[in-house]
Amino acid sequence: MMEMAYIFDSHAHYDDEQFDEDREDLLEELKQKGVGGILNMSSDYASIKRTVDLTKKYDFIYGAIGIHPENADEYSEAVKEEILALLKEEKMKAIGEVGLDYYWESNPPKELQQKVLRDQYEIARSLGLPVILHDREAHEDILRMAKEYRDVTSVFHSYSGSVEMAREIVKLGGYLGISGVLTFKNSRKLPEVVKEIPLDRLLIETDAPYMAPVPYRGKRNRSDYLLGVVERIAEIKGISVEEVLLATANNARRLLKL
Ligand code: NI
Repeated sequence: MMEMAYIFDSHAHYDDEQFDEDREDLLEELKQKGVGGILNMSSDYASIKRTVDLTKKYDFIYGAIGIHPENADEYSEAVKEEILALLKEEKMKAIGEVGLDYYWESNPPKELQQKVLRDQYEIARSLGLPVILHDREAHEDILRMAKEYRDVTSVFHSYSGSVEMAREIVKLGGYLGISGVLTFKNSRKLPEVVKEIPLDRLLIETDAPYMAPVPYRGKRNRSDYLLGVVERIAEIKGISVEEVLLATANNARRLLKL
């Protein structure tokens, strides 16, 4: 039997309020348009429950649970207990979106962010789940942590680092999330990363509602827009769009043990 090529969006936020007015219609439409899988991220305490609800309502949506570094001060023993309980739900397949964000001065202190990330890596390790990482201006610290937890599979979401760092991530058995940034005119490092890193280490992702690719840049992002990213990967690697779709969907299924 022929395998069907479809989009597996490895990182999206469909619980975001930007989807409140048309979420149901949109998700139904995406399914019709060949989006076969979505991993929805939690970002703060409230979004954890919204993510669980989405996974119950839609057969093609899976969930990641975690506290984003910008909200690290929301993390507590009680929240951890709740995360552990919700991870027992059938379709919760990853820890995310977690990580380090040193960009915004208003963010919680680095030490707290690191402690919260470490704690969530421990949860991932104890349950054998992958970790979906947000890394902004924190390449060195986050790579060090990923190496420390090399028995946990780390996904670098919307990858923005160098080819050298990408090679280190591959050595750890990790994955790179390739977002709409690849289609931006000023994107220089990322095409090189896509060229150099084997296809079996790449995932595609929207980060919807953010990061819409060209020609939708600045608009609300959605998973079917990923075709532009897929076409660019195919062009860079000199392979077909179908090959990219098949490989990235297989990678996502392998990562999430589907
Ligand atoms: Ni995100």
